[in-house]
Amino acid sequence: MPPTPNPPLHSQTPADLLTPSLAFSPQMLWLLLLTLPCLGGSVPGNPEPGVGRELVGIVGGCDVSARRYPWQVSLRFYSMEKGLWEHICGGSLIHPEWVLTAAHCLEPEELEACAFRVQVGQLRLYEDDQPTKVVEIVRHPRYNKSLSAQGGADIALLKLDAPVPLSELVHPVSLPPASLDVPSGKTCWVTGWGDIGRGEPLPWPLSLREVRVKVRSNVLCNQIYCRRFPSNHTEPSEQLIKDDMLCAGDGNHGSCLGDTGGPLVCRWNCTWVQVGVVSWGTFCGHSDVPGVYARVMSYMSWIHQHVRPFPGAAGAFT
Ligand SMILES: *[C@@H]1O[C@H](CO)[C@@H](O)[C@H](O)[C@H]1NC(C)=O
Ligand SMILES: *[C@@H]1O[C@H](CO)[C@@H](O)[C@H](O)[C@H]1NC(C)=O
Ligand SMILES: *[C@@H]1O[C@H](CO)[C@@H](O)[C@H](O)[C@H]1NC(C)=O
Repeated sequence: MPPTPNPPLHSQTPADLLTPSLAFSPQMLWLLLLTLPCLGGSVPGNPEPGVGRELVGIVGGCDVSARRYPWQVSLRFYSMEKGLWEHICGGSLIHPEWVLTAAHCLEPEELEACAFRVQVGQLRLYEDDQPTKVVEIVRHPRYNKSLSAQGGADIALLKLDAPVPLSELVHPVSLPPASLDVPSGKTCWVTGWGDIGRGEPLPWPLSLREVRVKVRSNVLCNQIYCRRFPSNHTEPSEQLIKDDMLCAGDGNHGSCLGDTGGPLVCRWNCTWVQVGVVSWGTFCGHSDVPGVYARVMSYMSWIHQHVRPFPGAAGAFT
């Protein structure tokens, strides 16, 4: 059976979406906190302002910014119960006025832009919170909500109320050329405020975490998923891992991915480039199964229909 799209929060389904639908009840809010997606626990890393720790595994003559992930954002949805704009997903700033995230973070589709806000420039979640209003949601037209993330095109754009002021702490990430080939074995990084292990929520002070993952080929990833979830009602040739998806992660870390909607970035020529959007995969505990990302290269022309390229992104703050 292919992985079930959009399972309930408490589901033990091996392959789960990393975030649930927003149609939650009050008691589900707590579950939501517990089940926010995970980063592999084995690669800790709290990027701190001014510390500038060298990235493990990335060798070369590039300066490392004190603030390594200034494009990371937290997507918020208002919690009546808690009276705050609660973190539900990650995202990335790709332009001073635009955020890239996963389409399934924005369900149900009846929700309008005003239901969401975006917090930029934060390392510790909720510290000095000043979330920015969202004025427009652009879900990818091929995103199919009944298939959810597993149907592909799990990508969406959020237009902000106004351009956010850029600084060392707030800066758009570079986007790849559509033709960019990400070789399997390439080391990339995923960031988020998700759980740090199965049922282990991120501890206070809720610092952003990073995990290093290796890109896996779609062919291999599809084999792993098909073996893991042998299908009894689909064509044998059916691809669980579609061409517009990208897999990353290995047995030791990365199996829990980062926050859904958050960025997977790799470095080329001293520039960080976002190649994936955290989409679906398995919860912690299925460490041999890679995480699945929306493949950003597949969506460049769609992104550029809505967002003008931001020249300042390339090479800045890296
Ligand atoms: C979404 O997927 C379902 C299940 O495969 C299919 O029946 C439906 O037609 C799709 N919807 C659209 C709008 O493509
Ligand atoms: C597929 O497997 C499930 C679970 O074992 C079963 O309930 C279902 O009837 C099967 N479907 C088909 C078409 O064989
Ligand atoms: C990195 O630089 C080399 C040499 O200039 C170039 O051939 C290559 O395309 C660049 N890679 C990316 C991803 O920009």
